[in-house]
Amino acid sequence: MRLDIFTLFPEAFDWFLTQRPVQNAIGAGSKLRLLNYRDTTPLGAGQVDDAPYGGGAGMVLRVDVVEAALEAAYPESPRPRVVVLSPSGRLFDDVLARELALEPHLALLSGRYEGFDQRVHDHLADDDVSIGRYVLAGGELAAMVVADALIRKLPGALGHEDSAAEESFSEALAGAPEYPHYTRPPSFRGWDVPEVLLSGDHERVREWRLARARERADALDRGDG
Ligand code: 6GU
Repeated sequence: MRLDIFTLFPEAFDWFLTQRPVQNAIGAGSKLRLLNYRDTTPLGAGQVDDAPYGGGAGMVLRVDVVEAALEAAYPESPRPRVVVLSPSGRLFDDVLARELALEPHLALLSGRYEGFDQRVHDHLADDDVSIGRYVLAGGELAAMVVADALIRKLPGALGHEDSAAEESFSEALAGAPEYPHYTRPPSFRGWDVPEVLLSGDHERVREWRLARARERADALDRGDG
């Protein structure tokens, strides 16, 4: 996959880029680019934002600045699917993560300040995506959340090929959250590991895990997960 992340703060991604799954995905042929709106702004003095028409607090990222960034990144090639990160967008979940991970080429637009001029949403972006119903200071953390969830679905991103297949919300678990995990010691302060996990009976272990995953799914459905 080619993943292009547009941001005013590329350095915010320094830590993310060092992460093993990201490195693995790049090693396996994926390409991750960070593009700074400020590098391609058509305005003077590196200006990228402006005061909102109608008044009000904060600044708004300009549509001409975002268009210039996209035009510079994709001068003649067809544009990738463009996802703008915004608190009011479609809620990001594993279904959307799987869908986006299938795209050969994807652009994530992160914004700051009060967000983007509405014409970015209406005319430049294909999707608006939010990572939850709360407001972050900027789209960078949201872009990393989305990128992390996508990258772990790419072949070779995880050391162990099965790690993503049976994780929470995957098809293998019928969309349920994952079952609980235990490791040594088998008993700690009287808190015991379930006996079935020590039994060596793989069929019983499988059934137990499915049952626990279903319980968690039911709890989530009831809203007390
Ligand atoms: Cl995508 N951006 C911002 N600024 N805040 C958010 C968000 C995105 N998703 C949830 N909160």
